[in-house]
Amino acid sequence: MDVLSGKKIVLGVCGSIAAYKVAQLARDLTLAGAQVDVIMTEAATRFVGAATFQALTGRPVLGDMWALPEDGVVGHVALGAQADIVVVAPATANRIAKIAAGMSDDLMTTTILATRAPVLLAPAMNPQMYAAPATVANVSTLRARGYTVIEPDDGRMAEHVVGKGRMPEPPVLEAEIRALLGRTHGPLSGRHVVITAGGTQEPIDPVRYIGNRSSGQMGYALAARARDLGARVTLVSGPTALTPPAAVALVRVETALQMQAVLVEAVGDADILIMNAAVADFRPAESSDQKIKKSGDAGLTLHLVPNPDIIGGLAERREFFKVGFAAETNDLLANAQGKLERKGLDLIVANDAVSSIGQPEIALTLIDRGGVASLPRQPKATAAASLLDEIVARFERWHA
Ligand code: C5P
Repeated sequence: MDVLSGKKIVLGVCGSIAAYKVAQLARDLTLAGAQVDVIMTEAATRFVGAATFQALTGRPVLGDMWALPEDGVVGHVALGAQADIVVVAPATANRIAKIAAGMSDDLMTTTILATRAPVLLAPAMNPQMYAAPATVANVSTLRARGYTVIEPDDGRMAEHVVGKGRMPEPPVLEAEIRALLGRTHGPLSGRHVVITAGGTQEPIDPVRYIGNRSSGQMGYALAARARDLGARVTLVSGPTALTPPAAVALVRVETALQMQAVLVEAVGDADILIMNAAVADFRPAESSDQKIKKSGDAGLTLHLVPNPDIIGGLAERREFFKVGFAAETNDLLANAQGKLERKGLDLIVANDAVSSIGQPEIALTLIDRGGVASLPRQPKATAAASLLDEIVARFERWHA
């Protein structure tokens, strides 16, 4: 189930040119199943029309505290009291100042003061206004009070100024909303989940490597789902062409040895490790400093040495829930079962290598000491969501 499904989101829109981007956010949240109540300031309506948000959310847009709909659902504090999350995007310097001062002179500020739900602010303003000591102090006051303030992006502003003050794009805001809802309601709240993804690349020379066909899709989808369920997520990724999920700590690596070094640190306080990466079993014994040249018709023999079994080694270090993957071309169950035992795992997820690596869909077989379960072939994003739910259920039993 999508973490946004059935959630009540109050979306406060302030007067900034970034307001036009928030129309897309309102649409995406609504399509994901959330009930989105938009409150616009007077200045916001100069940038985007209320009719836009009304059409996208299917709900009346609110503004004037003295002209609320008369169905009794929306009293002046009711919105805040009922909300699962309050989002202010774009948040202007003026709004940030009002909220930090605890003012309640209109519907947006009153809603924020009256809510117990988490509050997320996405500042958007001229870089100088964002860097002004008053704004810096207001932002730190809000953070100290437990509000989440998203760091604006650095870049070109609408008025051709370059600097820090751009509101992040709607998918990033959506990810932050998912993460915050997860941390408030989710089963992995307070947990650290480490996930590896993609394939490793083992250098032969400065331009060539030994790699595999892993795309990273499954691992990236698992990371997004773990974030939505409330976990602090570290995603350790081999090279991929994917956009990393927002609100996830990404560490990029190339080789198995680099992945191992990062993981030794990362699992220090991990609750769950999901070792989804396709780690190269072998690497060239030596990598040439210079590009290897052809010499006539002579062939080239590479001497390969085994990489360490990363998860097998980590398993001995401390107690945490360890999930491995087994991509097999033959004898799926027997091979996976062997790896579960040999590597000291709590769960192994087996799949047919040929029909899934680098492909958009996957069928999964889950094997642990309790038995065998399977998830039917489906797109990797939904397979990842179902798999993570299975992992959480087993982690909770393991932890109990
Ligand atoms: O390559 P193999 O099928 O043995 O991989 C099974 C599991 O072990 C996977 O979860 C993979 O990420 C992990 N692995 C590892 N270190 C290696 C090779 C694989 O941790 N050197």
